[in-house]
Amino acid sequence: MKSSGDRIGGREWARKPNGVPIPFPARGIVGGAFSANDFVEKKNMLTLSKDMMIGIAKVDEQHQELVDRINAVVSMGARSASKEETQRTIDLLSEYIILHFGDEELLQRQCNYPKYEWHKGQHQILQNECKKIEKEFAETGPSPKFTLDLTKSIINWIVTHIKSADVELGKYYNAQKAQKSTP
Ligand SMILES: [Fe+2]
Repeated sequence: MKSSGDRIGGREWARKPNGVPIPFPARGIVGGAFSANDFVEKKNMLTLSKDMMIGIAKVDEQHQELVDRINAVVSMGARSASKEETQRTIDLLSEYIILHFGDEELLQRQCNYPKYEWHKGQHQILQNECKKIEKEFAETGPSPKFTLDLTKSIINWIVTHIKSADVELGKYYNAQKAQKSTP
């Protein structure tokens, strides 16, 4: 089985634990991977839907913060903010992505999560994509379409990741917790 992060046709692919490849969402494409409720098209704002709640308070809170910071980047594009202002907002988002992934991975190590390596690999793929996006932004600067397209790419990935990989983590974590508290 190939590891996560393989490149096929120039695109980076994620893989499910069973080895089935998942293509990185194409930029600017939203739909299919999550429902219309996740992304309110009229305002282009992401909301944390019920099926994105994983049942670990700290992680759910961080996901909300992540959503808020994504929406901040979206709003930059919508109101044609300056390059400097948009850059700062993108920086705040990528800083938080690093912090959140670090915390989530620590929690996985603490509870001996069996899919830790795979999950960490998934996080790495998004971080690599973020780096590409930042580089592209530095070269081309802001435009409503650019910011929206890029954000949609991140949104698509994050929502899909939370709904599958993180929800699975939540189930494992809470099952472990319940087992420990059973006399
Ligand atoms: Fe995760």
